[in-house]
Amino acid sequence: MEFDDVVRGRRSIRGFLDKPVPKALIVEVLELAMRAPTSLNTQPWNFYVVTGEPLDRIRAGNTERMVSGIPQSREFRTGQPFAGQHRDRQVGVAKQLFSAMGIARDDKEGRQDWVLRGFRQFDAPVCIIVTYDRVLDGSDDTPFDCGAVTTALVNAAWSRGLGAVINSQGIMQSPVVREHAGIADDQVIMKSIALGWPDETFPANAVVSERKSVEEATVFVGFET
Ligand SMILES: Cc1cc2nc3c(=O)[nH]c(=O)nc-3n(C[C@H](O)[C@H](O)[C@H](O)COP(=O)(O)O)c2cc1C
Repeated sequence: MEFDDVVRGRRSIRGFLDKPVPKALIVEVLELAMRAPTSLNTQPWNFYVVTGEPLDRIRAGNTERMVSGIPQSREFRTGQPFAGQHRDRQVGVAKQLFSAMGIARDDKEGRQDWVLRGFRQFDAPVCIIVTYDRVLDGSDDTPFDCGAVTTALVNAAWSRGLGAVINSQGIMQSPVVREHAGIADDQVIMKSIALGWPDETFPANAVVSERKSVEEATVFVGFET
């Protein structure tokens, strides 16, 4: 696959085939992803790749706790709730996804099912928990570096025919993830990635999310034209 095809073709995959992903292929994807640049080459990231029973225990624990109203316990700062253009973009992609899935605005049950799907890691056969070394806590470079490797990872996966969705939903109940993935105390949980073979018949997988234009995002300085 050409680089442009990977970057332009990749989209978040939220429906997977019930088919295992070979460990050797995950190693290949991780090797590629770990070529990502990091601040002073510190490489603060680590990965817990979970499948089978431990992953099922995480799905069950996440769901139970969220449904029973236990407040989320993500291990990173979330800032203020989105407003303005950020909220508009959040709502925009949600509308695209709900429309693809045929979930109406007033379909509370359908919406709830969709949210629960996220807490189950979208029923993916594999979940990769991205963590970072706790000694680096407090540096903004560290989450930046985790983002770089995670983006490289989903692109590397796509180039091998695998689909993925980066997500916060899977790690909202961090004690559950810590227990069943065996996260070491010297690691902080940053994000999770649901990974597997895309189910081409799952409607939300076809959604292509929108982007603002380069013009909107960029200030060119010192150019002649
Ligand atoms: C940091 C981060 C957290 C995300 N969390 C979730 C999530 O919890 N649930 C979900 O369905 N998608 C999640 N996503 C996927 C985004 O919704 C998606 O990347 C965005 O809408 C752009 O769509 P695309 O990946 O298809 O290009 C997350 C993505 C990132 C980068």
